[in-house]
Amino acid sequence: GRKWTAIEFLKEDLKDKEVLIRGRVQTTRAVGKNIGFLVLRERGFTVQCVVTVAPELVSRQMVKFATSLSRESYVDVEGVVSVPGVAIKGASQQVEIQVRKLYCVGKAIPNLPINIEDAARSEAEIEKALQAGEQLVRVNQDTRLNFRVLDIRTPANQAIFRIQCQVENIFRQFLLSEGFVGIHTPKLIAGSSEGGSAVFKLDYKGQPACLAQSPQLHKQMAICGDFGRVFEIGPVFRAEDSFTHRHLCEFTGLDVETEIKEHYSEVMDIVDRLFVSMFDNLNENFKKELEAIGRQYPFEPLKYLRKTLRLTFQEGVQMLKDAGVEVDPYGDLNTEAERKLGQLVRDKYDTEFYILHRYPLAVRPFYTMPCYDDPAYSNSFDVFIRGEEIISGAQRVHIPELLTTRAEACGIDVKTISTYIDSFRYGAPPHGGFGVGLERVVMLFCALNNIRKTSLFPRDPLRLAP
Ligand code: 4AD
Repeated sequence: GRKWTAIEFLKEDLKDKEVLIRGRVQTTRAVGKNIGFLVLRERGFTVQCVVTVAPELVSRQMVKFATSLSRESYVDVEGVVSVPGVAIKGASQQVEIQVRKLYCVGKAIPNLPINIEDAARSEAEIEKALQAGEQLVRVNQDTRLNFRVLDIRTPANQAIFRIQCQVENIFRQFLLSEGFVGIHTPKLIAGSSEGGSAVFKLDYKGQPACLAQSPQLHKQMAICGDFGRVFEIGPVFRAEDSFTHRHLCEFTGLDVETEIKEHYSEVMDIVDRLFVSMFDNLNENFKKELEAIGRQYPFEPLKYLRKTLRLTFQEGVQMLKDAGVEVDPYGDLNTEAERKLGQLVRDKYDTEFYILHRYPLAVRPFYTMPCYDDPAYSNSFDVFIRGEEIISGAQRVHIPELLTTRAEACGIDVKTISTYIDSFRYGAPPHGGFGVGLERVVMLFCALNNIRKTSLFPRDPLRLAP
């Protein structure tokens, strides 16, 4: 094959060299009949290409062809790198390509439903443009999602999904380095794992079944199977009927389950070290991506401590009470109270990432271990970024009799989970774990306002396409 150069690497050291590049048409412009300009884009980098009529090399027809290419079409260009005396506006690379040959290898239709440059503007830029009298259509969220393959091309979106990939990568690397084994559990299961009605029901060859609401039951069974420590990265299905900024019907779950030696704080220790190293890694190695997101959606970097703050649920309730917010000490915190507590914690401890633990037992799933010293509370925790939940976790009940009682008390049909409960009859260690929503982590780390921005092809109660 021939040697291709990425647009990113078109620099002055290639002056007078012949190169072969591929990019999308960002803009085209004709100057008379003899000269044309086109800006090509590849992975967020752009370069200006000049097509000038020259005997034997470039015809007028070619100038016309080049300048009438539709936006977003893919073209291959052979040409020579030159360095103009003046700065090039509208392109990231400061060299030009003098075009010799040009092939359109993937034509786009002329009137695209989304203009990428418009879709990439920040709210402030839009306001400014509108004030300057520019004709501009705000690209709304539904349009973006309907034409997601176009929307994904903006620099901010490109960055979001690179960061998402890195979050997943760090999660895996960190856990592997701590002796965890990656597993995959079935997504077709017999009954609900988290309780409640938010399950997608289906017919499994005549048997009632549902899509897994989490790997909860099977990751615990893997612990019974002697792996000691496991993790899973996989799809999670929730038949949410609420239409909010943070709920999807399908999301990516990052799940962890580990043997506990002495105390459920061992599970919180893992959260602590995993996430501090994840945030450090992103801030250090993904500066470009974070900047690209910030240009369209300005945000302050996340405040977090070297050692993650842990508060008990009761301490949280007290902080809220002191601030004039009354909440039920045996109930759950609603979204508003969680957000308020997030602000109070930030003001007092200078962190936007913290763990709240020892939740009331009544608000946790049936498999949660009650506190030994006070069964009204449980060995469980939630983790928050900027006042919103990204993780929930707990020690689990590994005593089959207690597990059966708890499941019944929570209104679960024990028959549907009998093999799960039986797993603990064959000898099981004390254990616990947690589940993280990947899309939520990215959304909240970057202070984005909607989870649909961090899901490549989001699924919500109204959306099953594209
Ligand atoms: O809080 P959840 O439901 O907990 C579990 O699934 C437990 N089995 C976890 C465990 O190991 N104890 O979900 C875990 C995380 C939440 O903290 C949230 O980040 C995310 O999954 N999540 C959702 N993300 C997007 N859309 C939804 N509908 C979500 N529901 C939960």
